[in-house]
Amino acid sequence: MPKLEFPEGFLWGAATASHQIEGGQHNDWSEWEAANAERLAAESEASFRWNPNWKKFEKEAIDPANYLSGIACDSWNRYEEDFDILSELHLKAYRFSIEWSRIEPEEGVFDETAIDRYRQMIRSLRARGIEPFVTLWHWTLPLWLSERGGTTASDFPERFRIYTEKIVSSLGNDVKFWITLNEPDVVSSHAYMKGAWPPQKKSVRLFLKSIHRLIDAHRLAYATIKENFPEAQIGIAKHQVVFEMVRPTPVNRALKAAADYGWNLYFLNRIGKHQDFIGLNHYNRNVIDNGFGKNPNERQTDFGWEFHPESIYQALMELRRYGKPIYITENGLADASDELRREFIPRALAAMHHAIADGVDVRGYFYWSLLDNFEWDKGYWLRFGLVAVDRTTQGRAIRESARAYARIAETNTLES
Ligand code: NOJ
Repeated sequence: MPKLEFPEGFLWGAATASHQIEGGQHNDWSEWEAANAERLAAESEASFRWNPNWKKFEKEAIDPANYLSGIACDSWNRYEEDFDILSELHLKAYRFSIEWSRIEPEEGVFDETAIDRYRQMIRSLRARGIEPFVTLWHWTLPLWLSERGGTTASDFPERFRIYTEKIVSSLGNDVKFWITLNEPDVVSSHAYMKGAWPPQKKSVRLFLKSIHRLIDAHRLAYATIKENFPEAQIGIAKHQVVFEMVRPTPVNRALKAAADYGWNLYFLNRIGKHQDFIGLNHYNRNVIDNGFGKNPNERQTDFGWEFHPESIYQALMELRRYGKPIYITENGLADASDELRREFIPRALAAMHHAIADGVDVRGYFYWSLLDNFEWDKGYWLRFGLVAVDRTTQGRAIRESARAYARIAETNTLES
């Protein structure tokens, strides 16, 4: 591979989310975990036997403790240590989220101590020359809001606006980049269509309601941030799947067009001009051959997802149509061995470079995740981190792949 240089000022970073790393949460997910940990442990073998990596994680997966977020990575207390690691890895950007249930534990009552902690985090990042990318909502909800329907509640958009206004008026002086919502489509479909995540409903009507409330919530939040800080850069983190046809037959074309429209484009189109950049979360391609999911799956990550780092190229090319700067707000894989990750990062970055060379305005890349963390209904057995976290001691250990990523970030260059 020739030496590949990235644009000047390209932002190299890593991403996390509050519920997955902070620990000590009291929200709709922590309640749901307490009620469902036993069940998830009991069901794990039936759900994951298909996974070629099942034997590697069986012991953890059948243990109910795996499904309780609990202390997580204790990053609420250890954030300085985490930020030192970012510096050591030469990363100049960090995406993290604010936990709504900490900020507004009761409706209309804001916790200034919690806001202050986030203020300290942001200052501490700035002191290290690290650009904060702040996500306002990464799926978890305060109980008072989940109890009346969460994202499907009629006043969800207004409550989100009020929360956003509070955060932005408190922290806006130190933040340039805001991500209002993380993967609104993934959380809505898992919570309201598949019935897998809280509140475990199976209803197309509720799914669509959730999507439309989130569209409204984003628009209101966008306007609120802009009113206060016209220079702020605002977007969402959008989950994009690359739908790839084996052959461009009429059937395959129709399937691709429908999936692109429904999954990839609808939400972005609806928030239209109310976004300054596109945040791309990318993990999967879906191969179409008279039906979906015809991926060759020659190699798989611990999650059982196909190992195919190059699909980021196509995901980026398909976003060119919006004519906006793009930040890759998540890309990564679960790999406890770190062997696949060592291969994944340079290959994904070469594919990203290819897209930049083909004219896509990519301005930054956030690896998911900085730390091994709580992977929602899968718990702790999936390891996405650049940094391994010991669940007993909370000790952090930088993986080999992260050292290689750090060299790329430091030199802004990818060498073979
Ligand atoms: C996307 C989500 O935003 C994040 O929370 C999750 O851990 C990763 N994908 C990996 O599944």
